Amino acid sequence: MAAFGTVFMPEMSISWFDGEGWSTAERVASDSIQLHPGAHVLHYSSTCFEGLKAFRHQDGSIKIFRMDRNIARFAQSSELLSLPAIDPAQTEAMILDIVKHFAADVPEPPGSMYIRPTHFGTEPAIGKAAAPSLTSCQYILLSPVGDYFSGGDTTLRLLLDDTGMRCAPHMGMIKSGGNYASALNPILEAKKELQADQVLFCPGGDVQETGAANFLLIDGDEVITKALDESFLHGVTRDSILTIAKDLGMKVSERQLTVDELLERAAKPGCEAALSGTAAVLTPVGTLIHKGQEYKVGNGGVGETTVKLRQALNAIQWGQAEDKHGWLTSI
Ligand SMILES: Cc1ncc(COP(=O)(O)O)c(C=O)c1O
Repeated sequence: MAAFGTVFMPEMSISWFDGEGWSTAERVASDSIQLHPGAHVLHYSSTCFEGLKAFRHQDGSIKIFRMDRNIARFAQSSELLSLPAIDPAQTEAMILDIVKHFAADVPEPPGSMYIRPTHFGTEPAIGKAAAPSLTSCQYILLSPVGDYFSGGDTTLRLLLDDTGMRCAPHMGMIKSGGNYASALNPILEAKKELQADQVLFCPGGDVQETGAANFLLIDGDEVITKALDESFLHGVTRDSILTIAKDLGMKVSERQLTVDELLERAAKPGCEAALSGTAAVLTPVGTLIHKGQEYKVGNGGVGETTVKLRQALNAIQWGQAEDKHGWLTSI
């Protein structure tokens, strides 16, 4: 199977902001866009994006998962980056139009159609390091994907980094390319030197998130994860898993979690940890690496509760369980 996010539908929906208003969205070829080499985004990283999925149900219908949440985060990222404001109704119409156009290509579960709204500053102005782009572009790109997590007994190895940071603290809740660029070097180093799969950023001992997913600790019937603040991305999957955990009668604790507490709890036999995200869904973590030592989470294997929560989320997404929170939008 092709690597996640490397296959694209041949068309995308696009709209341009000319300084006064958004152009009528159009479907255009998805293999190129024309930009001035002085475009604001190429110099000052005025860009944000989203990631959400459309699923095929057994009756042939196509449903998009928590589109409203992703559009709200897209609007917020745009605002916090001083990009032109998006019109959420227009973005929604663009998503619905392009997914409908390629409805026949939405894979069967466990696959899905990954939807990538993107917004960036286009103004040709290389003297605007401290001024916003007055013009911009947004498009909705589609990529059919398989199951990111191959399942089986595989668990992730995470390096706990309590000195570095994923990104500047005030940027954490913005889904912007620069944040991923700033996390790349530490992740590559951890992969090379420690065969880690990811880095769990814990600046000053505060357990935050990895490069592209939120972190959840599951201790018995309690799920513990960092409370929302501006330092990390407010994952839609995180919110969905916490809601499902509450529905299943579990205790959900959104609060500060320190590296010391994490290592102490991880040593208990039944403890589990997982990463949550649109791509990762809920992927089990088996090993934590800290200051040259390796610590198993529980028995180091795939945790029962992690599997149960993941299956409960997938069942809603795939139309096998009731959508009682109204998370699915029909196209
Ligand atoms: C840095 C980061 N944290 C968390 C997440 C999880 O967010 P979501 O569940 O909305 O996909 C993502 C994206 O997948 C991410 O890139």
